[in-house]
Amino acid sequence: MKTEWIRNPDQEDIRRGGEIIKSGGLVAFPTETVYGLGGDALQADSSMKIYAAKGRPSDNPLIVHICRLEDLSVIAEDVPDIAYRLAEKFWPGPLTMILKKSSRVPKETTGGLSTVAVRFPNHEVALALIREAGGFIAAPSANTSGRPSPTVGKYVYEDLDGRVDMILDGGDSAIGLESTIVDLTENVPVVLRPGFITLEQLCGIAPQTILDPALAANVTADRGTDPAAAKNITTAVTENERGLHPKAPGMKYRHYAPKGMLTIISGSGEKVSICLLNELKNDKAQGQRTGVIVTKGMSGQTEGQTDGLSDDREEKTGAANEEWTDYADSIKVTEDMAHDLFRFLREFDDEQIEKMYAPALEETGLGLAVMNRMKKAAGGRVIEVG
Ligand code: TXA
Ligand code: MG
Repeated sequence: MKTEWIRNPDQEDIRRGGEIIKSGGLVAFPTETVYGLGGDALQADSSMKIYAAKGRPSDNPLIVHICRLEDLSVIAEDVPDIAYRLAEKFWPGPLTMILKKSSRVPKETTGGLSTVAVRFPNHEVALALIREAGGFIAAPSANTSGRPSPTVGKYVYEDLDGRVDMILDGGDSAIGLESTIVDLTENVPVVLRPGFITLEQLCGIAPQTILDPALAANVTADRGTDPAAAKNITTAVTENERGLHPKAPGMKYRHYAPKGMLTIISGSGEKVSICLLNELKNDKAQGQRTGVIVTKGMSGQTEGQTDGLSDDREEKTGAANEEWTDYADSIKVTEDMAHDLFRFLREFDDEQIEKMYAPALEETGLGLAVMNRMKKAAGGRVIEVG
């Protein structure tokens, strides 16, 4: 298949993209979170094509993207009132809701489940494409299975060239992490995948919201720092009924894997930088290419020990310690890390980095989502330095 890669698509390009999807083809497109690999959500064959293009098991359901709130009732049944309240607050935006599916949605799209994931994205190109395609686009992230989700067109092309009909390249994704998924088919709303919309924000609208017990069990942050999150996480653990299997089928797979080996270093700023330096020196002594994942403002004493420093390639030799700690605790660093993490992982692959390190962030607010992705990318490797 020949893939057409269109940068800064205009209305005509988007109209053609919509035609392709209506006639059963696949179009990758930008959203505010990450790029999506889209097909017609109401055609079983299109969903099968998506699984094939992505190399994804067909029991891992797809998210259906809509562009009008009215369309929710076409694909979902018995929509609870809380869904409309969450929609009012967070749609269009990075929130996906799990609802009972209607008969209009083929089982292929939902991986055989009787529920459907619905999202109303906040991106002009995505919304125009959904409209042109007839209103319902099934789209997983536009990476091949297991790779970091693409946040720029180049990496969509790298993964999907020859596998989709068209790539609509809208530049950099504003958020950089996939949407928050909240399940509204249980007694209380359950966050199945943390994302840009935080548990704390959801609790603002639906106070009973909890984190999926399987995820809560993995949270190592100090739960004392945020009373709301602490209460919810603890409740989730004690009410664990599912034997700690994540409910979103996709959350159980190894994900976001870079080609090199990522290790997270967790602890206070000074200890983290000492540990980091030691690790880098050891790796270097063994002739390995190393990289450190930091964001602007987190300076590291890496002393020329890295081949890839993600901070705009700028090797900083300034003191890490206090400055680092202050910054690592700030909201800005978490947002920067959310925005850049997947791109850094890809760039390190491009540079054939074999060993890479990242300092841990606090697992509250958006930090919960960033650490969820980071731990998966690291295959669970965390060094605790206290
Ligand atoms: O931000 C996003 O959500 C991006 C953009 C493209 O919209 N999409 C995305 O899709 O991340 P994907 O397929 O990579 O992740 C969807 C996740 C998977 O973990 C899947 O198992 C889960 O949603 N999921 C989908 N439908 C579900 C359902 N009915 N019940 C439980 N989990 C579901
Ligand atoms: Mg994905």
